[in-house]
Amino acid sequence: MANTIEWIEGTIPTVRLLDQTRLPHVVEYLNVTTVAELVDAIQRLAVRGAPALGAAGGYGVALAHREAAREHWSPAEFASAVESLRNARPTAVNLAWGVDRVMQASSNAEGALAEAIDIANEDKAGNLALSAHGAEWIMSHCARRPLRVLTHCNTGLLATTSWGTAYGMIKHLHQDGMVEMVYADETRPLLQGSRLTSWELTQDGIPHKVQVDAAAASTITRGLVDVAIIGADRIAMNGDTANKIGSLSVALACKFAGIPFVVAAPFSTVSLDTATGSEIEIEERDASEVLEVGGAKVALDGTQVFNPAFDVTPAELISAIATEHGVIEPVLATNSDIFASLVPLSSSH
Ligand code: MRU
Repeated sequence: MANTIEWIEGTIPTVRLLDQTRLPHVVEYLNVTTVAELVDAIQRLAVRGAPALGAAGGYGVALAHREAAREHWSPAEFASAVESLRNARPTAVNLAWGVDRVMQASSNAEGALAEAIDIANEDKAGNLALSAHGAEWIMSHCARRPLRVLTHCNTGLLATTSWGTAYGMIKHLHQDGMVEMVYADETRPLLQGSRLTSWELTQDGIPHKVQVDAAAASTITRGLVDVAIIGADRIAMNGDTANKIGSLSVALACKFAGIPFVVAAPFSTVSLDTATGSEIEIEERDASEVLEVGGAKVALDGTQVFNPAFDVTPAELISAIATEHGVIEPVLATNSDIFASLVPLSSSH
């Protein structure tokens, strides 16, 4: 299987990214040697998905140290490069979290790289743990066997450093023989579902159908789905969850149909500074993503576009949030700090 992101040591150290803009037809790696190139790769979604962005933030700080030494940057130039990385995309809190964690851990190149590698290794372990916790919760809340699962966007190995979050849970359930069918929403406009999730599902031999996003509510209310599992870009302290645009529609349909809507995320996606979902900045992306499909124009030139990349699902629509520390049930929560029962949170979580 491919590596989403890795550090390659050498005369010019490199962050090697699997270029997700080229998948599924071209498997090609990008060799990034400067912070500016990494920011560009993040903004073009060559690397994407909240946990992968956390790793990119960490490796990016290590890269900044090496570039600073090579190019004789002043401290102000170093600080400005790190800030541009931290702000490359606003919604997934993991990016800023990865940058801050490495900046706080060390002020030298070696220490920064060691911390960035720790982030990547912890992500893998965390994904395996949250997948097991979430799968156990699903098995005790869904009676039908094997399960029919709906998912949105891409949350697999490509969105993390390995294994995946919501996708990791699906893989865990599949390995236990518990998956009959996965409905993968295509995820307009950038098609993370049809290009990336379907690619991963094919490689893992998991039976699936890609459907247009607009089909999801109907698939759910027709009784064809037992559980919906999605990832997260930022989870507020009350459980409100930002994820790829279209996730809220899935949650509303699940509520109407009376089936569980499950969020899977590592704790690096929980934002201590965000009390509720209304405080989450929603990234708005370029009009061309909506006006063109595969380079072909699908609307008149000059058409105005609203292109929010994420939406926020209120906690009351979320049956469970599976993390590496266990599962909480926001829908049943009575206080505003719903994570307190799971783990004592500090700024260094
Ligand atoms: O714009 P993207 O592709 O970075 O959005 C990704 C998502 O919304 C994912 O569902 C989320 O980051 C979780 S990835 C494990």
